[in-house]
Amino acid sequence: MNNFTFHSPTEFIFGKGTETEVGKYVKKYGGTNVLLHYGGGSVIRSGLLDKVKESLDKEGIPFVELSGVRPNPRSGLVYEGINLAQSEGIDFILAVGGGSTIDSSKAIAAGTVYDGDFWDLYSGTPITKALPVGTVLTIAAAGSEGSPDSVITNENGMLKRGTGSDYLRPKFSILDPELTETLPTYQTAAGITDIMAHVFERFYSNTPATEITDRLCEAVLKTMIKEAPKVIKNPYDYDARANIMWAGMVAHNNMVGVGREQDWASHSIEHELSAQYDVAHGAGLAVVMPAWMRYVMKHNPMKFAQIATRVWGIDMDFNNPEETAIKGIKRFKSFLHKIKMPTSFAEIGAKEEDIPEMAHKACYGNGGTGTIGNFVKLSQKDVEEIYKLAL
Ligand code: NZQ
Ligand code: ZN
Repeated sequence: MNNFTFHSPTEFIFGKGTETEVGKYVKKYGGTNVLLHYGGGSVIRSGLLDKVKESLDKEGIPFVELSGVRPNPRSGLVYEGINLAQSEGIDFILAVGGGSTIDSSKAIAAGTVYDGDFWDLYSGTPITKALPVGTVLTIAAAGSEGSPDSVITNENGMLKRGTGSDYLRPKFSILDPELTETLPTYQTAAGITDIMAHVFERFYSNTPATEITDRLCEAVLKTMIKEAPKVIKNPYDYDARANIMWAGMVAHNNMVGVGREQDWASHSIEHELSAQYDVAHGAGLAVVMPAWMRYVMKHNPMKFAQIATRVWGIDMDFNNPEETAIKGIKRFKSFLHKIKMPTSFAEIGAKEEDIPEMAHKACYGNGGTGTIGNFVKLSQKDVEEIYKLAL
């Protein structure tokens, strides 16, 4: 196991009705003038926004609103948010929504106190300060509610890029599983796929002796396999929603990834798909991940056989571990079909002719070094082959 530091200071408030306490937590973490940031309207339709406003009013906390965050959040709204926060003297950003809204909030939080173009902070300049961020989460997926990360798409060139800093970890996150009951099946399934991908990105590693994090990864995957069909069948299954919501946090605040080299090639490969075709990030991952698995499996078939046996319950073929590994990858793909995720370019409207450009951007865009991933270091040519496997 490698050396590591792990700092996860976010306070989580979990369960039914907890969103009504949001004002109390904003006050606890020093918010006196709030930017209330949200997306395209689901929080209005569900009545959540009114509850949040009521709670802020109850605590006497003034706020200004900025709506319109799109899935795969854009830099344009971030610039708008930074200007607004600076002109209004905002000292706390409250995100009400999913990963996109939280990521946009984190970008505004860092950009407001940065002397320069916020995009620098997504192009290699380290983040050294940020306004505090709190979240009320409405979808179990990206894990941004507990992560130090934020992913923004720059409209100038449609480059989708991430940054990470402990300054971006939310001060608090309110997680009420009931808030996810209004999600369309497609978004629920995309979220489930993203959660599983966050585990795979950490699991496929060359670091030896990582039994504890291996087992934690396997636990999250097994939970998703058990709970996902329940919420697809019945969106109002509270306990399944609750387990999935907490799994989303556990999968991505890095507790299952510490002490091990992590991969993250599939996310880079996917980000080009969602930047180019505006598909849900999780749906893009459903297309990319099985293809990536097939492409790199031979690097360490036993690692894939471990997931096949321990997670999917497939019998180990000791004479032919590769066969066991392949069976595991197939099971993952058929699980994705079962929860109605796409697994091919055709299903998300992606085009073969765009492959070279996307592969180039994935490897070189925004200061890239030419290779991505760690389990297997992938060149532009490799990435092209992976896209082709997903055709
Ligand atoms: O905009 P509204 O109207 O709210 O609708 C959203 C949006 O259309 C809708 N939605 C959310 N909660 C809902 C709901 N509809 C009905 N009922 C609810 N309760 O769902 C759609 C998707 O929302 P979004 O916030 O985009 O989803 P998600 O949480 O999957 O976030 C995806 C973004 O996060 C990034 C992705 O790349 C993508 O841009 N990621 C962020 C990470 C991080 N910060 O740590 C890590 C991830 O790997 C990921 O890259
Ligand atoms: Zn993800």
